[in-house]
Amino acid sequence: MDYHFPEGFIWGSATAALQIEGATREDGRGDSQWDVFCRTHPERIWQQATPDLACDHYHRWAEDVGLMQRFGHTGYRLSIAWPRIIPDGTGAVNPAGIAFYRRLFAALTAAGIEPNVTLYHWDLPQPLAAAGGWESPATLDAFVRYARVCFEAFGDQVKLWATFNEPSWSTLNGYVTALHPPLKHDYKAAVQVAYNLMLAHARTVKLFHSLGSGGRIGIVQNMCPVYPASDSARDAAAATIADAVYNRWFIDPALLGRFPQEALDLYGRHGLLPEMRRQDLDLFTADTVDFIGVNYYFPHYASADATETVFGLNTSGNKDEDCHFSIKGQFKFVKNPKGRYTDWAWEIYPPGLYDLLARAHQYRPGLPIYVTENGIGAQETLTADGTVADDYRIDFVREHLEVIHRAIGEGMNVHGYYMWALMDNFSWLNGYKKRYGFFFIDRDTMQRHPKKSAFWYRDVARRNGFSNPAG
Ligand code: BG6
Repeated sequence: MDYHFPEGFIWGSATAALQIEGATREDGRGDSQWDVFCRTHPERIWQQATPDLACDHYHRWAEDVGLMQRFGHTGYRLSIAWPRIIPDGTGAVNPAGIAFYRRLFAALTAAGIEPNVTLYHWDLPQPLAAAGGWESPATLDAFVRYARVCFEAFGDQVKLWATFNEPSWSTLNGYVTALHPPLKHDYKAAVQVAYNLMLAHARTVKLFHSLGSGGRIGIVQNMCPVYPASDSARDAAAATIADAVYNRWFIDPALLGRFPQEALDLYGRHGLLPEMRRQDLDLFTADTVDFIGVNYYFPHYASADATETVFGLNTSGNKDEDCHFSIKGQFKFVKNPKGRYTDWAWEIYPPGLYDLLARAHQYRPGLPIYVTENGIGAQETLTADGTVADDYRIDFVREHLEVIHRAIGEGMNVHGYYMWALMDNFSWLNGYKKRYGFFFIDRDTMQRHPKKSAFWYRDVARRNGFSNPAG
């Protein structure tokens, strides 16, 4: 076999609570900021979709665990819904919420599937969001308490924890592009939130280690590589700044215990520095993560030619509609004229994943790395025989696995791969139009249909690798 992976390599897929669970008003669950956003701004989401039913996983979890098992999964990355555990964010713990996840973790373990659990995948309890969200220190206190509740309730079942999913992406879209709740365009708030998320992370890592219940804690980052758009020195400088605010602000404190000087200088020049207390800064240096989760979809190319401030994500699934991200006077992300693109204008570029793995390795040689998300969204329909011929997904996953294999061969400590996603789900602004799953969800019946890629991945997981299709 050409691509054989180390024994114990985790073959998994990923989901997030809000995107699959449904049952948003059942068994005492409170509202999250996304539930309220979907109700108050339905026009922003394709076909006014909501997460109310999602994949109905809250009722079909046993069937879903069975599918993972039958299709060879050895790991599953999921998130816990904070509003299911502490419905108003700060008050009483909801026993039904705890019971739900205990049942799920027990079933996963019995099926030989290791859970990799993220505490926060954007579903902030609404009362906290209404009271200032991540701008408010009270939210940090509430999060650390929620983390403690989870560690105590599930610590015997879960050994792999992550604090946050993509703090960079949620800050950018919540406070810069104004595409996600709380729909703000406020650089000062963005920088404070970016800092507060990392502080909540550091406090949680410290708490986890102090409990000594075993296991590992990390963080999941969308480490988009940022390449200069050209050979010019100006574009190289733009890429350095973009990388500092977009990636390093979130990676450096988690892995090295400090914030990048380039970003501190930039924020200082513009009067955007967050409030940083000495004793909090010491927290970052005192303790860091046990692993890093890397989410990778596409790279960026930074140009210095940023004459205006414009943001836009492709939510149409029409290849001709570009994504826009430009901050006047700083940097503008541009398309790669030679790139291969998905229908949502996301470039398919597997070497970018290799660069990220190499980067994580460079930061902390030997640090365990998990590829916690990687996948391709597409518009799909069932064929007459009840499947989806998603050969492009097979190619996408295989090409990314090839670079992971190369990275492992060069000494990078990659422990597992979680394809996004286990099943088609609520794709935030894209509603249910953009399908990512190994399993197609029929929106009328909620029936799960394995796609061609699910069978392919099952064989890869069973053989712990694959042969080069070219021969
Ligand atoms: C990641 C998120 O940013 O990208 C997932 O962690 C998300 O929750 C995935 O679904 C794909 O993004 P989208 O917007 O296409 O669903």
